[in-house]
Amino acid sequence: MANVDRLINWKTDAWKDPQMVAWYSRRMVENSGTNRLNNALETSLIAQYCLGETVLDVGIGTGRASLPLVREGKQVTGVDSSQAMLDETRRLADGLPITLIPGDVLDLPVANQSYDTLCALNVLTHFPHWREVLPHWASKVKPGGRLVFDVYSLDHLRVATGKALTEADMLPREGDDSSISRFNLRIAVEDLVTAADQMGLTIVAVVPYRGFFGSTDTNQLLAPWLEGQQRWERLLSWLATDQRMLDCALFLEKHFIAPLTSQVSGKLMLVLDHRPDPSANARWLARNTEMNAILASERLSLPMLTPYLPASAEQICDQLAQHLLPLRNQMLLYRIVKPMLANAQRFDLASLLPDPVFGRFVDWFRRELLDQMASRVAGHWSTCLPAEQATHYEGVDVAVATQYALTERLLTEHLGRFSGVRT
Ligand SMILES: C[S@@+](CC[C@H](N)C(=O)[O-])C[C@H]1O[C@@H](n2cnc3c(N)ncnc32)[C@H](O)[C@@H]1O
Repeated sequence: MANVDRLINWKTDAWKDPQMVAWYSRRMVENSGTNRLNNALETSLIAQYCLGETVLDVGIGTGRASLPLVREGKQVTGVDSSQAMLDETRRLADGLPITLIPGDVLDLPVANQSYDTLCALNVLTHFPHWREVLPHWASKVKPGGRLVFDVYSLDHLRVATGKALTEADMLPREGDDSSISRFNLRIAVEDLVTAADQMGLTIVAVVPYRGFFGSTDTNQLLAPWLEGQQRWERLLSWLATDQRMLDCALFLEKHFIAPLTSQVSGKLMLVLDHRPDPSANARWLARNTEMNAILASERLSLPMLTPYLPASAEQICDQLAQHLLPLRNQMLLYRIVKPMLANAQRFDLASLLPDPVFGRFVDWFRRELLDQMASRVAGHWSTCLPAEQATHYEGVDVAVATQYALTERLLTEHLGRFSGVRT
């Protein structure tokens, strides 16, 4: 328990340092890598689910979630344990009317039942004591009011690792101080439903996001295919400057991640109403379980998912085709769906992608495989060749390239491997 208290204090105090505040404030507007996408996703989800006119933003930080709400005319109160953060928000508000008060997540200095919505972005993720925090937060919203906040998904990690991990497994180990700063709260939806029932809360939505593009928390299901790949990192860095690519990424998130379950992504936006309705929670969980069963089915196609998606399969395909006109966007999607191309028995990608794009992806995938195979064989040959047979041209050893070309021809023309792929 002492370790948990240390964790809570560490996470709270870290943000009191003005240098840390200056770094965070800069980073939030920096527009590099996936920052811009993450910001767009998080702030739009908060705005989408925000109810009523009065908003309490807990751990307001630099106000990136609620300053846009003030601009829309909402009355916002921001609470934060860091005076340096509150000073920064006041500066960024630039005269906009917003109430800012120092206070703690577990001791909010505002009247009970006084807000329509409480939002907290990137705050509960730092703390393990969510079962204590949520009832206190709920006490500050009106009956029927709303809580909107993000956490990490334990379900996602369970599926990706195949291990029955628990919240306790996520806690820093006694004596391992370095893991305190790395702690992230991960919740399983079954535990959320149990807690919601006990706290008199109703689940409105659990929205997975950052499905493909997590910056600090890459999708664990895709990570083995993408991480450390220079081409992937470069593609992601373009998101900051390429508007059409950003729009494509937002489209993919909205249509293929947000409507699914806590298993598909590491990050979740939770939306809970302050009213008891255990039967609605049970219905929500049943639908969630049903969707997970579909996601785990032996063969997955777009029509199987469309009852859960925000548009018909035809509409989604049409819109996707538009987003895939720029070649760069095709490359982005190609990287994401590569694991599915490798597992074509399980994933019916043809039902999702426009015909020419699907054909091109299959072609790219085969070429990549061929390329890897030819490089391996040719590389092996070159190590077997005696040094005096190595071929040099203007100081460059061209043996590998020659052997690569030979191997590729052998594989495609004589052994029938990937025949029809070459152009
Ligand atoms: C990662 S920042 C998020 C800021 C902002 N919500 C955003 O998303 O950009 C975490 C914020 O929570 C605040 N915070 C940390 N511990 C807190 C506590 N115990 N009570 C209230 N606020 C806290 C920090 O000062 C910081 O502003």
